[in-house]
Amino acid sequence: MKDTFFITTPIYYTNWVPHIGHAYSSILADVIARYQKISGKQVKFSTWVDENSQKAIASAEELWMETVSYLDMMAQKHKAVWDWLDIKYTDFIRTTEPRHHDFVREVLQKSFDNGDIYEWEYEWMYCVGCEAFKKDDDLVYLNKTTWATFPIDKKVVESDNIIKVCPDHLKTPDKIKEKNYFFKLSKYQEFLEDFYRENPDFIVPSERYNEVKAFVKRWLDDFSISRETNKFGIRLPFDETQVTYVWYDALFNYLTVCDRPHPNPLLTKERGQEQNDMKFWPANLHVVAKDIIRFHAIYWPAMLESAWYEIPKQILTTGYLTVDWQKISKSLWNVIDPVEFSEKYSKDLLTLYLLSSFNIWQDWDFDTKQAILTYNAKLANNLGNLVNRVVVLSLKMWTEWLNWIIDEEIKSKLDDYVYIFNHSANDYNLKDTLDLSFKFLDDLNKFADTKQPWQTIKEESLQTETSDVLYTIAEWLRQVWLNLYAFFPEKMSEMFIKLWLENYSESLESGKLNELRQKQEVFNIKEKWEALFLRIDV
Ligand code: MSP
Repeated sequence: MKDTFFITTPIYYTNWVPHIGHAYSSILADVIARYQKISGKQVKFSTWVDENSQKAIASAEELWMETVSYLDMMAQKHKAVWDWLDIKYTDFIRTTEPRHHDFVREVLQKSFDNGDIYEWEYEWMYCVGCEAFKKDDDLVYLNKTTWATFPIDKKVVESDNIIKVCPDHLKTPDKIKEKNYFFKLSKYQEFLEDFYRENPDFIVPSERYNEVKAFVKRWLDDFSISRETNKFGIRLPFDETQVTYVWYDALFNYLTVCDRPHPNPLLTKERGQEQNDMKFWPANLHVVAKDIIRFHAIYWPAMLESAWYEIPKQILTTGYLTVDWQKISKSLWNVIDPVEFSEKYSKDLLTLYLLSSFNIWQDWDFDTKQAILTYNAKLANNLGNLVNRVVVLSLKMWTEWLNWIIDEEIKSKLDDYVYIFNHSANDYNLKDTLDLSFKFLDDLNKFADTKQPWQTIKEESLQTETSDVLYTIAEWLRQVWLNLYAFFPEKMSEMFIKLWLENYSESLESGKLNELRQKQEVFNIKEKWEALFLRIDV
């Protein structure tokens, strides 16, 4: 039985189609899922849409559409983006599906029976943009003349011109006074603190973990898990007049896909007709950005503990992307569509830029010119040149002349490379894996420059030496390609075929990365070919 690996992306709101920021999370998760799969794990990878949100309902109203037709349309639009970008999810979920409704009602009932949910009438503020309750501390002042914001200060007097707003959406939250049900988060404070202590790697990177721990240490308020006035969403099983708060329902998507796998026959067939995927729980990895870390790191473990489920192993938290140093937003007209971008420059360019140009904990301003330069330097030049050199030289030599000998010094570098690559990939540190691979290719280019096989090949007496050098380069490259397959599967597959390593993609897809690494292969190059990664003009 293979080891299992379950990875998730956030489920995205459907008030708009996914932009480059959403694509960042999905591409990151996709590469990790692919790497785990080629390393032999049985992978489950879930994604798709969070539909019971007020934002989506408002968007449907703006378009004069029925909520359900709007949601159907947007779910398909989202799916088309992920399919176009070749995100290889194994499970997809819409939170309006009956399986999700049933499941959420079941867990709500459990927590209610445990005494963790109680009724209370209260008055609070709610920001629809965030789909979250707000306190005064969470807001800032906005000067409506200058559009400048500044921190809440007791000395400032609110006026028509100076108003309190949500710092992310610059809107005054709605005031709500109604009967709600609350989840006793405060009861779980000690539990959470113990859990964090016992699981020092629960959130990576550690900077984000520290923020969460500091927050929990201060004080945890119970939070509202239902709305009286909303009509759309999942009804509470113990009070049908109330609809479940969107975050309470959304987080449980990760469990719905395990407990109630999608009835889609294709997926069911691949899985061998299994009706339940609970063997994948607890999830190995949730990929999220920093904006939703508190929901995942504080609410979610407490909600799971209350309903007697195990807590996921890790949360990988990215920074936030901006465009022109501004929040990405349709009202600012700075939205970059990942499909259009990839059509223009290639998906490989997007993947390389997002995963190699900055660290995961950093916020980053998306810069198209920089993305092109990175691609030209790393894929077109560094990798492309080396491939060309090997192809041209191998064409000149009979493959039978190639020995199986690798330069000793290079051999130890190669072993180190593979070892560290694995280590970083299993730590989900994709920037390191890419940096390492391109550094390794730099060294290999230097090795070729020193050994000058294109000169020695002309001397009959140096044929053995030339052959060793060529084999060394070829073997080194082969190892890099195997590692880069998870990032650039299409191009790497093309490369394998051109090198007559024909069964490679298939073997990788069935989890044989390590076996292929151990193989001895001699490339059998029969003809010249076009460069795989073409340079792009800036
Ligand atoms: N529906 C909730 C998530 C529920 S998960 C149980 C939600 N949806 S969202 O559509 O707003 O997407 C949030 C996620 O999209 C972020 O956490 C992040 O993963 C990704 N990103 C959206 N914009 C982003 C940037 N500008 N930069 C980086 N990631 C971004 O919140």
